[in-house]
Amino acid sequence: MPHPEVAETVADLRAKVRAWRREGLSVAMVPTMGALHDGHVSLMKIALEKAERCVVSIFVNPTQFAPTEDLDKYPRQLASDLDRLAEAGVHLAFTPSASEMYPQDFAAKVSIGGPSAGLETDFRPQFFDGVATVVTKLFLQTAPDCAVFGEKDYQQLCVVRQLCRDLDIPVDIIGAPTVRDAHGLAMSSRNAYLDEAGLAVARKLNRILRDAATAIARHGDADSETVKARRALQQIGFDGVDYVAARESQTLREWQAGRSGRLLAAVWLGKTRLIDNVEIPA
Ligand code: PAF
Repeated sequence: MPHPEVAETVADLRAKVRAWRREGLSVAMVPTMGALHDGHVSLMKIALEKAERCVVSIFVNPTQFAPTEDLDKYPRQLASDLDRLAEAGVHLAFTPSASEMYPQDFAAKVSIGGPSAGLETDFRPQFFDGVATVVTKLFLQTAPDCAVFGEKDYQQLCVVRQLCRDLDIPVDIIGAPTVRDAHGLAMSSRNAYLDEAGLAVARKLNRILRDAATAIARHGDADSETVKARRALQQIGFDGVDYVAARESQTLREWQAGRSGRLLAAVWLGKTRLIDNVEIPA
């Protein structure tokens, strides 16, 4: 199957999108860091349903990693990623270099408050400034009509929505359901770091969160249920739990009984950090 067209520079990306626009075609975008899996493909499918052309960016964004994190180790596999884009029917891959995105003396930073407070930010304080900065750049470079983000990174989805709302960026943000394996494990590029024993433990995360979310919805006591869930995660073999937290689903403020909510968690297996979230039924 032929690979999609590839743009490595912003100028090339803009020229290609401009040509589509001249033909009156709509454009959807899926921002990724590559190491594409079925979860990403599901985002592409949605993008292809929403618009006539689909751009997927593949860029491991250094500004969202702390110096201690896995930037160097993060899986990079452009050839097989391009195969996946071809199979999905994506029209254009944007694969800029770090210097194309962040030329020498780059000095801008986009910082979003609101839903970025707490959760990931308590443990990865640099993360959402990095995400907001690169997503803003990708949107200004591509100018898509819509962009698809996975609910797996639920806080990121809320931050990107806030970013577009607050900065009047005219991109419709579409949230896509998390794709899971047969055991409920959310697809993630970082699952590749896990061995069989790790995978067996990781596969229990979603069940524990779902049970806790059901209990929270039933009797409204988020504090005791999140403590219980944290304990269950540790007992089942996770090496660390950064947070298990019940939040209001749009603003990510503390969840109030009777409101629609989200139960979010970040856990560790050895050096691998996994996140997941489930709905707290209203
Ligand atoms: O979710 C991701 O893969 C990244 O955070 C994103 C949105 C592509 C920004 O680098």
